[in-house]
Amino acid sequence: MCECSFVRVACVALALAAASLAQEYSVDEPNNRDVVFNGVQSSDVSLIFDDADIIVNPGERLDLNCGFQGQYRHCIWELEGAKPIQVQDVYDNVHPGMSKPEVPEGNECGIVINSVSTEQHGKWTCRVFITGNSLEGSKKVIVTVKPTYPILEVDNSQLLEVTSDAETPVKCVVAAARPAVGIRWFLGDKDVTVMAETEETPTDNEGMYKSISTLRRTFEPMENGMMLVCSVSHKTLTVPENASIPLNVVFKPVEKPVSTYYQIRPGSDYEVKLNFSANPPPTRKEWRYGDTFQNIAVSIEIPGAKDRYETYIEELGNGMYTATLRIAGFKEEDANQRYMLVVQNDLGETSYKVRLSMDDAPKDGDSETRDHDKNPSTEYSVSEGIVFDDDTMSNTLSGGAVAGIVIVVLIIVTAVAAAGYARYRQMFCFAPRAESKAYIGDAERNETDNGTANDAVKASTDHVNGKTDGTVANGNGNVEQTQVEEINNEKKNTDV
Ligand SMILES: *[C@@H]1O[C@H](CO)[C@@H](O)[C@H](O)[C@H]1NC(C)=O
Repeated sequence: MCECSFVRVACVALALAAASLAQEYSVDEPNNRDVVFNGVQSSDVSLIFDDADIIVNPGERLDLNCGFQGQYRHCIWELEGAKPIQVQDVYDNVHPGMSKPEVPEGNECGIVINSVSTEQHGKWTCRVFITGNSLEGSKKVIVTVKPTYPILEVDNSQLLEVTSDAETPVKCVVAAARPAVGIRWFLGDKDVTVMAETEETPTDNEGMYKSISTLRRTFEPMENGMMLVCSVSHKTLTVPENASIPLNVVFKPVEKPVSTYYQIRPGSDYEVKLNFSANPPPTRKEWRYGDTFQNIAVSIEIPGAKDRYETYIEELGNGMYTATLRIAGFKEEDANQRYMLVVQNDLGETSYKVRLSMDDAPKDGDSETRDHDKNPSTEYSVSEGIVFDDDTMSNTLSGGAVAGIVIVVLIIVTAVAAAGYARYRQMFCFAPRAESKAYIGDAERNETDNGTANDAVKASTDHVNGKTDGTVANGNGNVEQTQVEEINNEKKNTDV
């Protein structure tokens, strides 16, 4: 007597799928450092003790918890290097400044220090005496010591001079604190801590630490004038303690692609205004022009004048400038010439190519180079500092998770098809006792997926950060114009 069941075949397949997935996505037990209970078991007695460190400010209340299940004679608390304290004495008010916990259940041997002092820093042990034996649990109590002021290790405390194309290590030092401080770095409002490494060295045997954070970063010309901040956080501080210094980023005049100015009407006066940045200030600056970019014949100092041309410069601050070439009574021959602004400072010389056109500007869409030139500011605001967005996380599945789902679906489809075929052909029989309990641990599956997805999001965020940095560097205008007449390229650039 055959009892072939379509449903059963599917169920067996599902059970197999679940088993294989459970293997593939096995997760480690969550390891929560905050709650580690030492249940020391000895037949019918056990100690209830959390051995996690306690960090407490001087003057704050300290709860030393220690519970006991079963019969015991008495219990004591010992601070390393000090006399033991009998818990019963505390409950009998023998020790001023110590008291009995409000809730004794599960904390039978607990004591409270009403206002902790630095002398009470150290390893505390709760010892419970039972017939013929004792049980104990120990924990570290870290009584904090306020950190010393953070010091930025720089040559000149007024201004930090950095070169834009070289990585500059900057150190921030906190000489002593207990426990060690947290150090973050900010450039203006932007958190740049990812580029820093902090080293903590013990300065004594009592848990004091010196912290040195080294920020390694290549600063951008556009970061000139910004404030670099070393921000120190600690349990003893309600607001972070900061050390800061303004940046002086020195760089040769920043390169730019060719700039083209459109819709110039002949007969009228025209002002070519070109923005550039350089720090320190330019030592030489001039407008030049000629038949082609390779054949620039005439040059006019800024400020200066020649024929119908007049030149000015305006300082905008923070190493930014606007250079103006004023053309009186614009003529067609002016549009046929090529112009160049040449700027030199202590770090180098840069030439900015300019074309003047009486045509209309090309439509926005067909201008690749121009897009590239305009985007950086937008991209910049998105980049840096890893931001974990919950929405992004929940909406993103990793490749692994997707593959897993696809495999499950394939297995089910195959199983259903096979079962259908088997049933149709009456190929297999299933005895009633072959009842299989297909069970899919849904909760576990979800957890696993989330974990994998989070990692993937983190990885992709890192990737995005790296990539954006690169784009910004390009966007700064390092577009080289080596070819003779890159007409296509040139036409696409207007205001740079
Ligand atoms: C040059 O900079 C000034 C001041 O930031 C700004 O107002 C102007 O629009 C800029 N010009 C160009 C062509 O980008």
